[in-house]
Amino acid sequence: MATSKLSLSSKIKLRDGYEIPILGFGTYELEGKDAYEGVTWALQCGYRLIDSAEWYENEREVGQAILDFCKKTGTPREEIYYTTKLKLNNGYDHVKKAIKRSLETCGLGYIDLYLIHGPLGGAEARKNSWRAICDFQKENLTLLRSIGISTFGVRHMQELIDTGLPMPVVHQIDLHPFMTRTEIVEFSQKQGMLLEAWGPLTRGLRLEHPTLLILSKKYQTSPAHILLRYSIEKGFVPLPKSASKERIKTNAEFFNFYLTAQEVGELDSLDEYLTTDWDPTSCP
Ligand SMILES: NC(=O)c1ccc[n+]([C@@H]2O[C@H](COP(=O)([O-])OP(=O)(O)OC[C@H]3O[C@@H](n4cnc5c(N)ncnc54)[C@H](OP(=O)(O)O)[C@@H]3O)[C@@H](O)[C@H]2O)c1
Repeated sequence: MATSKLSLSSKIKLRDGYEIPILGFGTYELEGKDAYEGVTWALQCGYRLIDSAEWYENEREVGQAILDFCKKTGTPREEIYYTTKLKLNNGYDHVKKAIKRSLETCGLGYIDLYLIHGPLGGAEARKNSWRAICDFQKENLTLLRSIGISTFGVRHMQELIDTGLPMPVVHQIDLHPFMTRTEIVEFSQKQGMLLEAWGPLTRGLRLEHPTLLILSKKYQTSPAHILLRYSIEKGFVPLPKSASKERIKTNAEFFNFYLTAQEVGELDSLDEYLTTDWDPTSCP
């Protein structure tokens, strides 16, 4: 599909046949009432993918906000895409327990996308986590729809290939013009994984960059919109987070312009390996 035809309700088909919304709402550092409100506002604005994690300690509030929104608006649960993540690679049985716990805590009946949050813990621990997730999915076909990884390096992905188990369908990693991760992106895509971009707004660190200011002037929009549009042009699913009702709304309003291939190339050339949060891609 031409990227100029995309809208907030567009979806992308994953390798396993499920569809994922084109834009997500990040919930890192949103806790309690803030998580509940943020997710409610995001759903009201038309976001249909909500990204949570055991680590964020907000699975309950995020799940409740989704359930309440569905009830109030008559929206079927199936229209909302819920992601959560495994906090610790701490052994096969513990991982299966963690999945069950996440399912119970969110109260949503099933999880659309379940990710290994990160590669920490060593090769054996990673393999055990992935095996447990694959087994859990096979044993409970309706409970985990899609499965994937987050913030893995190429070596970590190669280890998964070597297990002979099914490969992840999604790789969530920090991606923006100042952190392009070309090698990891190419490797993931070659394995048929869709990339989700965390930190798509650089956590606010580069919103004043001259190239973003020039492009936002040209398109009469904001630097945040240029970054999110960049993500879409690259074929990524960006997961912007905001605690502000106004920014949650405006962040999603970038489907009225698109960037040329040359502009995307210019943005790619800004890569400076900017880490905005953690970077475990080289961990042993
Ligand atoms: N898998 C992983 O390891 C991993 C790691 C990090 C994040 N994530 C996921 O990815 C999501 C997004 O990443 P992120 O939260 O680190 O960073 P981000 O979305 O790039 O940036 C969020 C920051 O930008 C600010 N912001 C939002 N909209 C803005 C706008 N229009 N103008 C100026 N500032 C704006 C927010 O402040 P306000 O809240 O005040 O608006 C917040 O401080 C997370 O929430 C989480 O769901 C995953």
